[in-house]
Amino acid sequence: MYLKQVLYPTKLFSLIFEMATNITWHDGNVSKEERATLLGQKGLTIWFTGLSASGKSTLATALEQTLLHAKISSYRLDGDNIRFGLNKNLGFGPDDRTENIRRIAEVAKLFADSTSIALTAFISPYRADRDAARKLHQDAGIPFIEVYADAPLDVVESRDPKGLYKKAKAGEIKEFTGISAPYEEPLTPEVHIRTDQLSIEEGVQKIVEYLVAQGLVDQSKLQ
Ligand SMILES: Nc1ncnc2c1ncn2[C@@H]1O[C@H](COP(=O)(O)OP(=O)(O)OP(=O)(O)O)[C@@H](O)[C@H]1O
Ligand SMILES: [Mg+2]
Repeated sequence: MYLKQVLYPTKLFSLIFEMATNITWHDGNVSKEERATLLGQKGLTIWFTGLSASGKSTLATALEQTLLHAKISSYRLDGDNIRFGLNKNLGFGPDDRTENIRRIAEVAKLFADSTSIALTAFISPYRADRDAARKLHQDAGIPFIEVYADAPLDVVESRDPKGLYKKAKAGEIKEFTGISAPYEEPLTPEVHIRTDQLSIEEGVQKIVEYLVAQGLVDQSKLQ
């Protein structure tokens, strides 16, 4: 990676020499609608955003369990997990955070396009990055549901399940969202959950109710 930066000092140069050319999209034989009918469910992405310890992973995990027990295909893409593999070469500076989210959006879109429910749990602090993820889905005709896991900073700091706020405040972690890096809260999320006011079960219920009301999940499966 470092060598590459030395060899290709400008982004433009890198783009010119590394972008794929001579590629053609190959359509399948089964349309999105036919796939959904055959599999008996709709594909979509549920995009959790919020401060560290706001409850994104906790809610996504519980929602995934609820959906799977209802025999609704669902798969969670979770921040740290993805950084162990696909995004292991990315850090936490603004450019890498943007690339992190761009890749996740693409992967979530693939899961959703396969007629699963993709659940992403990333801080995704920049509004522009989340909007880009939304646009990617919208352009492909795939529903994108932004869920804001929201709790005040003093609450998430007191939870601190990974001890990250403590380290960030001690200066051991640079560019930590909410402490030394910005978080741009969603302006119009589809679902807004105050995790300091609702229980985990109530939070999951609020999302499920939204999905049912929008006709994205078949209520009869959930009983
Ligand atoms: N109502 C609630 N909803 C969600 N989490 C809650 C709630 N009440 C308490 N918690 C607790 O808050 C913590 C949230 O941690 P979690 O790992 O889910 O956060 P996160 O948003 O995924 O953070 P990170 O960005 O660091 O991965 C957990 O310890 C969870 O048990
Ligand atoms: Mg998490």
